[in-house]
Amino acid sequence: RYINNYMKIAILGSGGREHAIAIKIYKSNKFEKKLYCIPGNAGTNSIAQNVDIKLNDFSKIYNFLKQKKIDLVIVGPEKPLVDGIVDYLEKKNIKVFGPNQKVSQLEGSKIFTKKICEKYNIPTAKFGIFENKEDTFDFLKNRKMPLVIKADGLAAGKGVYICKDMESSKNAVSEIFNGKFGKADQILVEEFLEGDEMSYFIISDGNKYKSFSTAQDHKRVGEGDTGKNTGGMGAYSPSSLINDNLEKKIINKIIQPTLDAIKDMGQQYKGFLYAGLMIKNNEPYLIEYNVRMGDPECQTILPLLKTDLLDLILSCCNKNLEKQNIEWHEKKSLCIVLCSKGYPENYKNNIEITDLDNLDSSENDLIYHAGTKVLDEVVYAVGGRVLNFVSISDDYLISRNKIINQIKKLNWKNGFYRSDIGYKVINK
Ligand code: AMP
Ligand code: GLY
Repeated sequence: RYINNYMKIAILGSGGREHAIAIKIYKSNKFEKKLYCIPGNAGTNSIAQNVDIKLNDFSKIYNFLKQKKIDLVIVGPEKPLVDGIVDYLEKKNIKVFGPNQKVSQLEGSKIFTKKICEKYNIPTAKFGIFENKEDTFDFLKNRKMPLVIKADGLAAGKGVYICKDMESSKNAVSEIFNGKFGKADQILVEEFLEGDEMSYFIISDGNKYKSFSTAQDHKRVGEGDTGKNTGGMGAYSPSSLINDNLEKKIINKIIQPTLDAIKDMGQQYKGFLYAGLMIKNNEPYLIEYNVRMGDPECQTILPLLKTDLLDLILSCCNKNLEKQNIEWHEKKSLCIVLCSKGYPENYKNNIEITDLDNLDSSENDLIYHAGTKVLDEVVYAVGGRVLNFVSISDDYLISRNKIINQIKKLNWKNGFYRSDIGYKVINK
């Protein structure tokens, strides 16, 4: 199939997750290869050819893939998946790693997922679905606070309100129905779950799946988990919460029933699946699904993967994942995200980042680019989350200290970061 063992691979996306995937694929010794990143960032630019096409322009993407005779497409972010890029490209006989549009509703519609939870008895927060403000307000009367109020569709980490009182609850309901996250026909009101969060991943070929490790994200912008929600300020892998008994429960109570539901719909799930879980007393509850790797979780998980990622992805596309044995380095991986000052609200773009070349990089100390671009060999920040520093060691504190030294060395004046990533496992 691949002439002279030569493959052309395109990765869709431009974040730290995609840079981490690109590096793993680049280093795979299975094939001689040429890599393209659509659109990529300053980091992917040094190992792949960046191609400036918007991810919502499917036909332009297809024309490019066809012209270059691309053998495999790997989709990083959720938006094109939820918009149906996999269905679109597969119809045109292009091999794509990622779930189709129908099953991507696991992330694209929180209500779709809640209905599966209800039907298949998957442990999750109790919830109500409402179609207008008045009914929602009615329901809110005499409820115990805090409550969680959610817009249904994709909202890039926004669209979820944790409400401590009636006033903030009503405000959330109004904002959602007034269209802050796009047209809203329905709203979700959930019980607030207490416990510790964990990200649990699987990789699936549509038939068989394998566990793909765990991580702990840090979603809030401020130290000690305070302030606004972000895409993720840092992570570590593996999660300290995981144990064999818990993993069995996650699989039996959450993952397997979800895949059964997908099968009952006449569908298959191919790709990474990310379960956002709340763990309380060693019991898992599903908060949400994402139909992709997490960002920055991916950046912490992939450096620990021993097995060849390209091999795994190809075996998912070829439906023979069962034959693969996924192996991991028994190390601790931690990631800190360097952001532009002002993120997740307003921040400046096109700020130069100098001295990147002075930083140490090794197999255990990695720097992944996220919101960066390169122009005439100068790197500029063009996003809220700019660089991801990852360090692998036997101890989360050692990893964190190494990263903080690196960030200090870079001394990027427009940047800020959380210096407490991993505090739950480090300060014990
Ligand atoms: P989501 O976009 O659904 O992941 O929600 C964003 C964040 O809100 C999650 O990572 C949790 O920290 C929090 N969250 C969402 N739903 C709940 C819930 N029912 N109980 C407690 N926290 C929640
Ligand atoms: N780190 C959270 C996410 O990727 O959704």
